[in-house]
Amino acid sequence: MGASTLVGGAAQIWDGWRLRQGDALLIREGRIVWIGPQSQAPTADKYIDASDGILMPGLVDCHTHLVHAGSRLGDFLRRLEGRTYAELLEGGGGIHVTVAATNATSEVELRALLLRRLERWSASGITTVEIKSGYGLGVEEEERLLRVARSVDSTMRVVSTFLGGHALPPHRERSDYVREVIEEQLPVCAPLSDAIDVYCDRGAFTLEEAERILTAGRSYGLKLRIHAEQVSYTGAAAMAARLGALSADHLERVDAAGIAAMAKAGTVAVLLPGAMLHLRDPAPPVAALRAAGVPMAVATDFNPGSSPVADLWSCATLACLTMGLQVEEALAGITRVAADALGLPDLGRLSVGSRADLALFDAPPGDRLDARVLIQHMGGHQARWVLREGQPVSLPLSSKSVSDGCQSGEGG
Ligand code: NIG
Ligand code: FE
Repeated sequence: MGASTLVGGAAQIWDGWRLRQGDALLIREGRIVWIGPQSQAPTADKYIDASDGILMPGLVDCHTHLVHAGSRLGDFLRRLEGRTYAELLEGGGGIHVTVAATNATSEVELRALLLRRLERWSASGITTVEIKSGYGLGVEEEERLLRVARSVDSTMRVVSTFLGGHALPPHRERSDYVREVIEEQLPVCAPLSDAIDVYCDRGAFTLEEAERILTAGRSYGLKLRIHAEQVSYTGAAAMAARLGALSADHLERVDAAGIAAMAKAGTVAVLLPGAMLHLRDPAPPVAALRAAGVPMAVATDFNPGSSPVADLWSCATLACLTMGLQVEEALAGITRVAADALGLPDLGRLSVGSRADLALFDAPPGDRLDARVLIQHMGGHQARWVLREGQPVSLPLSSKSVSDGCQSGEGG
């Protein structure tokens, strides 16, 4: 049997479902093999001290567009002057600005930009991030973005999503581009992807086009997710649920039929308050989603246009303040339910058998040692230490490393 590590002394644990006091965890071969009261902890080869900290599963950001180059400041200023996101996109701006800038940037530089961005994700206790392509919109261009996303997996666990169906390139004939996505991009991109996504909306792809793209992705064994009911209502959430999508994301304009279909299929609703605020959209119908039993995750949707918001913790707080989530729902939404949205049910939770991704947080100075204060105080929380499958992650922005809390041969 491999070496074991005991993590003990935490003031409180968020296990993905609820808050627990005074528990310790035993890790072996990258998995949690025991969880229980510190006083009954088994002896271990190594001890990691979590004293006076709030222990969480490694956080999961289940919707990002982290691989891109260029600025969208112009869009932001125009939207503040009253133009809408859909108008800018339909006029050749928006996503197309980022596509042009990204395609003009080398693969080496795109990777360097991604690694710099990920420093903030890592420091905030995130151990798993979903990264979409979608700023290439060509065969080699999309393939390159997925290669970049996958290339950083040693820094951060990456789930890669093919999003060739993000926008119709200017001057392209619709049916010809959809054919290219299905017949040319998908065969090349599928081996580099875990999932496929499509932006089904005004200014992007129709319900019928989105269904063809997702169905084709499914035939390659990809998991399905969708940008649905964001700018306009299309029926995309119900369609994706019917196809077995893991998640439908945004949902500001989802209707009762969409909610019922998601509940029936177990589709996760991914709430994206960064985009909702930046586009000044109404809140998604959280009360109706909750009443129907639809699981709700929260993600950054980090991108330079609709959600230049690089802090998952802030998004969790905003989901409470602007959408009506309760604090425990927000904590679950950035851990267990976010992992479920990626089809990774052994992440985002601290339970026997789960992968030992752990992050330890301090309370804001002087406040209670209670995970709920990390939602109450909006954003910027940095982990004291992070483990990925039981191994310390080096944190670029953090003042301490896990080795400060490690001792050998103490059984707890
Ligand atoms: O999730 N809405 C479509 N896709 C992204 C925005 C991408 C962009 O504006 O660059 C979103 O909001
Ligand atoms: Fe998005």
